[in-house]
Amino acid sequence: MTTDPNLLRDVATRRTFAIISHPDAGKTTLTEKFLLYAGAVQEAGAVKSRRQARAATSDWMELERQRGISISSTVLHFTHAGWNFNLLDTPGHADFSEDTYRTLCAADAAVMVLDMAKGLEPQTLKLFKVCAERGLPIVTFVNKCDRPGLPPLGLLDEISEQIGLQPVPLTWPVADGPAFAGIVDRRAGELVRFDRSAHGARVGAEERVPLGSADRGECPPDRWNAAMEELELLDLDAVALDADAFLAGKQTPVFFGSAIANFGVRLLLEGFAQLAPAPGPQITIDPPGTRPIDAPFSGQVFKIQANMDPRHRDRVAFLRVFSGRFERGMSAVHARSGRSYTLKYAHQLFARDRITVEQAVPGDIVGVVNANELLVGDTLYAGPKVVFPAIPTFAPERFVTVRNRDTGRYKQFRSGIARLDEEGVVHLLRRPDFGDQEPLFAGVGQLQFEVAAYRLATEFGCQVMMSPAPWQLARGVTAAEAARLAGQRGTLVCCDTQGRWLVLLASDYALDWAMQDHPDIDFQLLGVSPAR
Ligand code: G4P
Repeated sequence: MTTDPNLLRDVATRRTFAIISHPDAGKTTLTEKFLLYAGAVQEAGAVKSRRQARAATSDWMELERQRGISISSTVLHFTHAGWNFNLLDTPGHADFSEDTYRTLCAADAAVMVLDMAKGLEPQTLKLFKVCAERGLPIVTFVNKCDRPGLPPLGLLDEISEQIGLQPVPLTWPVADGPAFAGIVDRRAGELVRFDRSAHGARVGAEERVPLGSADRGECPPDRWNAAMEELELLDLDAVALDADAFLAGKQTPVFFGSAIANFGVRLLLEGFAQLAPAPGPQITIDPPGTRPIDAPFSGQVFKIQANMDPRHRDRVAFLRVFSGRFERGMSAVHARSGRSYTLKYAHQLFARDRITVEQAVPGDIVGVVNANELLVGDTLYAGPKVVFPAIPTFAPERFVTVRNRDTGRYKQFRSGIARLDEEGVVHLLRRPDFGDQEPLFAGVGQLQFEVAAYRLATEFGCQVMMSPAPWQLARGVTAAEAARLAGQRGTLVCCDTQGRWLVLLASDYALDWAMQDHPDIDFQLLGVSPAR
């Protein structure tokens, strides 16, 4: 146990979380607004165009700008009212689900953003499944109340029916769209009215009035009365938030608001801080058990990102601290190699800006710069040895054959494809006897391949040609089984960089045939389901 008297106090203020949403539900806007409330930015991107705003906060790569998508996950640290938030930004696009999954492995809770006009959308459902798999508590934010939306009681039904979570509304909108008259803080029994004059670019004034004495102002009487009746119904239902049920992923507290107009954002941020768990003991596989937060320093790499900023052109390993205090320059053991490692260059990242981290505590994310030996899932520790469970990979579903167009750049091609595999941008598969000639990239989405091709060209100077391969499934087999399956119709045998043998199959039928022909072979499922 540590002799650091302030460690537990510091950890208690940490909230490490991710925001998940279907694209366009408002994740980026909500992130900006959290930063606005935290005083980390002076004026939210609402006054700029969305593209510019994104470039200003969380987009790194030129490709992201070209495609208008967010690929790399950012880690934002901000403080508000004594809390220290570590917000893990996840790419919203389904093609990067594996990256999102890795990032969620480093979070203690998630905020699920729903568009009030659309309710639960496909990508929200998929991300929700990933959270459920990780056992992450989820706080729901129903966004865009400034626009006409679905009836809020219907949204609650959707949550409980489609994802099996019991919704517990802690706030409630009084009407929506132009009739919107404020948000009721149900726990305080107060109506919170918001100043619209700042148009969401700045934090506006909020007025709290006891609900019993609140007048309806300009809200049409039917809308006001409807909201009051809904509130009565909710009171009659008397579903109370149960901390254990929330932490076990059985209940989700629900907040309503509008990220763009700043309605309900403070209520959400502060409510989330009070409800979400502080970092706790972490499960370990070696020795089997848990590592308490006040044990000596330990952490796990959950993401590798290279070339985040052309000004730096380096490789950053994102490490989530699980126990003890991280101090810059400290020595830690790299569990996989057993080698000692000096953590000299560690940064906290705020989009493009890097701040040197002197100290970090459990829950914090540290960017370890140019740590070329570190791979996703690696444990670093001081004191007694510890190894955290591996971060599962996804079973690939899409495959492309990669050809290097310029044979003169073979060396660069080899190191490029190896690097992309290490970072988990794509999975690299080689065919026996082919070496690095025409390897395959495996992944869950087409955009992963586009990112890989782009990075091979820009970082390694290699132009590649990619042709879609006809495979749809991959199963794990032994070396001896791979030798038996080699050359069979509808299959391809190959090896990943960890030396595991895989058989790729063109369809479910091909798998059925292969299983019938080889009833003794156990075609193993690989990794977790991509929740797509
Ligand atoms: P995402 O990261 O989840 O993909 O969503 P993002 O925040 O980029 O928001 C998607 C669109 O929804 C944006 O509009 C954004 O302005 C809008 N939006 C976000 N929150 C709210 C809200 O509370 N109310 C309303 N009415 N709109 C909201 P856009 O037209 O795509 O971009 P822009 O031109 O408005 O910047």
